[in-house]
Amino acid sequence: MTGTIEVLADAEAVCRRAAEGFVRSAEAAVGARGRFAVALSGGHTPRRLYALLADPAGPYRAGIAWDRTHVFWGDERCVPPDSADSNYRMAYEALLAHVPVPAAQIHRMPVEQPDGAGAYARTLRAFFGAQPPRFDLVLLGLGPEGHTASLFPGSPALTEATRWVVPVEVEQAVRHRITLTPPVLNAAGQVTFLACGAEKAEALRGVLGAERRPSHWPAQIVQPADGALLWLLDREAARLLPSHRS
Ligand code: 6PG
Repeated sequence: MTGTIEVLADAEAVCRRAAEGFVRSAEAAVGARGRFAVALSGGHTPRRLYALLADPAGPYRAGIAWDRTHVFWGDERCVPPDSADSNYRMAYEALLAHVPVPAAQIHRMPVEQPDGAGAYARTLRAFFGAQPPRFDLVLLGLGPEGHTASLFPGSPALTEATRWVVPVEVEQAVRHRITLTPPVLNAAGQVTFLACGAEKAEALRGVLGAERRPSHWPAQIVQPADGALLWLLDREAARLLPSHRS
């Protein structure tokens, strides 16, 4: 099951569609449970989404009960929170500095701690209880080789069945990272991927193709057991998908 795939004109349209979905998820979660728990993604693609959500003149900001919103991350690079490589910093600058989310409801991954993954698992347990965390919304991106969050091809984290958060070492500029694991991603109520640009086209052909090879295409591992899966792609990213070739 690949979920629902929506192909939009460009990255701006993808981010606007994602912002609408964010508002809908927040409204539904606050209506049902009195709070909205979201895991943000890193990378560059969601920056515009975060700016749209924060824009006081835009159509999205007022639709979100920020005081009922609890913010987490899907993965983080082990760099100081003010580093240009920090996923926290990107989300803070683009979104969190501009909306009234109480500081105590912003749950940054504590990458500076010796066991930051264990500490974050305890944070999740304190918030969600003993069951695998059921985020109302998990935002994810896609790397050009098919990784998502910090689940990279061949990584032991891909088969992690018990722990909710693990440290990983990856072949990227920032080698040490912390990531949520498949059991947590797959317990979410809604998972939304954002992928834009021609450099994502090969990975999307693999991830959304018929052959199941999650050790090679890690994003295939994301299959919410009792939740919705949505892929928001721009035309460039979707150009190698059979039904979207232009
Ligand atoms: C990270 C990520 C990662 C990201 C993809 C896409 O910390 O790097 O969370 O999984 O979402 O690599 O990144 P871009 O949006 O920059 O292409």
